[in-house]
Amino acid sequence: MNGKAPEADGPVIAALSAYSYWLATGAPTGQELPGRAYPEVPKPEGGYDLAKGEKVYAAQCAVCHGQNGEGQKSGDDYVFPPLWGADSFNWGAGMHRINTAAAFIKENMPLGKGGSLSDEDAWHVAAFMNSHERPQDPRLIDGSVEKTRDKYHANDGVNLYGEIVNGTMLGKGL
Ligand code: HEC
Repeated sequence: MNGKAPEADGPVIAALSAYSYWLATGAPTGQELPGRAYPEVPKPEGGYDLAKGEKVYAAQCAVCHGQNGEGQKSGDDYVFPPLWGADSFNWGAGMHRINTAAAFIKENMPLGKGGSLSDEDAWHVAAFMNSHERPQDPRLIDGSVEKTRDKYHANDGVNLYGEIVNGTMLGKGL
């Protein structure tokens, strides 16, 4: 997770497997249950637009996630997670894919108002969020963003790792 799988036979996997097994108590097998996964959200016809995403972010997200995506803390703990910057999910997390983030956001955000954004706005705001720097992909190869992009990001949905945005190459990590 976050670009790095937990150790296959380690305590994290054992605990998660036991918990999933317990959660599934009495559930039918071999059929999909309601609420499973998020439906794909179609990409806007004209592509995504970072400037439109910035507006959606300011109007609908910044109140919880902060003006600069920095999140909000109560004491030492985040109550609203940062969406970019040093403490956010990293470049190896599935959420860095704009298509994946758009589907998550459309279904769940703004918190308590899931399903309220248009498909286009979900894409625009997902792209805006993912056009910022964040912690490095833990699979970084030889310290090279280019090599890491070619191996892990070139065919990984729609994403901006290693791409130039506003004159700066993303993916250098924090
Ligand atoms: C009312 C407060 C609130 C608003 C408004 C809000 N969020 Fe969130 N968001 C949260 C909380 C709380 C979580 C953590 C949920 C959890 O852990 O289950 C979260 C989680 C997320 C995550 C997952 C982060 C991660 O590290 O996995 C993303 C992405 C996200 N929000 C995007 C958005 C976007 C984009 C908007 C605006 C369209 C938005 N949120 C509006 C409260 C909010």
